[in-house]
Amino acid sequence: MIYIKSPDEITKMRQSCLIIARLFQELETLIKPGISTWEIDQFADGFIHNQGGVPSFKGYSVPGLPPYPGAICASVNSMIVHGIPSRETILEDGDILGIDVGVYKDGYHGDAARTYMVGSVSELARQLLEVTDRSLAAGISQAFPGNRVGDISATIETYVRSKGFYLADDLTGHGIGRELHESPQIPNIGKKGKGPRLEAGMTLAIEPMVNVGTNRVREKGWEFSTADGSLSAHFEHTILVTDGEPEILTRCG
Ligand code: MF3
Ligand code: CO
Repeated sequence: MIYIKSPDEITKMRQSCLIIARLFQELETLIKPGISTWEIDQFADGFIHNQGGVPSFKGYSVPGLPPYPGAICASVNSMIVHGIPSRETILEDGDILGIDVGVYKDGYHGDAARTYMVGSVSELARQLLEVTDRSLAAGISQAFPGNRVGDISATIETYVRSKGFYLADDLTGHGIGRELHESPQIPNIGKKGKGPRLEAGMTLAIEPMVNVGTNRVREKGWEFSTADGSLSAHFEHTILVTDGEPEILTRCG
């Protein structure tokens, strides 16, 4: 069942999503060599609460794992997603850091991710970030009524492959609203014209996870990394399907 959000629900989702967009702006100055991912998590937790929200991920449960402990996910270099913030993970010049944030407010979630450069990074890292961000934009451009989920997926896949990078196996985007994860799943690989049809009022979290060297993933508890140790990047927006252009809810202005 894919929920179509009412205008009132959309207003609430805009609020949750805006908190994430503002947090990402704040993090631009906070993220530097020498800071730990635990300190970033503490800052994010405080910021979200100050804005009247609750971090969606903290305490999130899946079978077989302890509840997720962080307010955010902080995934360094070859870690793809769900990196647990830690006092021991101190950022170094040249690292890339994926930050994934969910915010719950007034009954609705927003979800977004972005990969930051720490100090000055390699040319390869810079390219990976650019390709991942552009693949997200390409996917979002397909989110209009009458198109299908597969149009988003295929567009992301075609773009990433054309740049010689890989999409992480089995990790997908999702519908979002009252629940952090709703139908439909939004895979990052797929076929045009396949899958559920999109309608105005759907809210979707689209999230390509792109690796330099392999599609294969290694899972350790919550944390997913590339099987070959190569770099990985993650960008995600919560978007609203409208009768015109898709609206990116997790972006300021
Ligand atoms: N954006 C991630 C996702 O949709 C957030 C994971 S939530 C966590 O899967 F709680 F599992 F970390
Ligand atoms: Co998500």
